[in-house]
Amino acid sequence: MLIREATADDWPAIWPFLREIVAAGETYTYDRDITEEQARSVWMLAAPSRTVVAVDQGGTVLGTAKMNRNHMGPGSHVAGASFMVDPAHGGRGVGRALGEYALEWARAEGYRMMQFNAVVESNVGAVKLWRSLGFEVLATLPEGFRHPTKGFVGLHIMYREL
Ligand SMILES: CC(C)(COP(=O)(O)OP(=O)(O)OC[C@H]1O[C@@H](n2cnc3c(N)ncnc32)[C@H](O)[C@@H]1OP(=O)(O)O)[C@@H](O)C(=O)NCCC(=O)NCCS
Repeated sequence: MLIREATADDWPAIWPFLREIVAAGETYTYDRDITEEQARSVWMLAAPSRTVVAVDQGGTVLGTAKMNRNHMGPGSHVAGASFMVDPAHGGRGVGRALGEYALEWARAEGYRMMQFNAVVESNVGAVKLWRSLGFEVLATLPEGFRHPTKGFVGLHIMYREL
């Protein structure tokens, strides 16, 4: 697996699984009927932020991550990141590799910490993955997320120092 910069040419490969993940409404606070243009502008970030793709040896896009400054001005030493792995390629270490990559990026850019603003409490796979990468739950916004089948669940703020 290779993680490299995402280019405009990667978008047609990203959009189908990004749309599937967002439409499921279980993991992101994006509108479930997000349009392709909205999604592209939310996900495909310009420098100094970064959007990357994880690709296999044949060049198939397996997943993607975006990395950015989380807060402005006096909070600009706090990084943020978001991740989407194509469900067809889940459970094979792509998310972990992208998470490790984002942490390395943030360290190299001189950030002091990384904060995830809204990790859905019921997204147990993601919470477990971020914990294993050194993140802790700082606080949980009770019932901050309306899950399509579980009802109102919490939204974690997770963080780790770099
Ligand atoms: C969360 C997500 C990025 C994980 O990516 P992935 O490639 O499937 O994860 P990995 O194969 O790298 O798994 C890494 C770890 O995550 C955990 N994990 C992943 N999916 C899990 C699941 N369904 N149940 C329990 N644990 C799970 C395991 O701890 C696993 O540990 P291991 O490496 O010891 O096996 C991916 O499922 C995804 O894109 N989900 C939809 C969008 C999303 O939730 N993004 C994150 C928002 S905070």
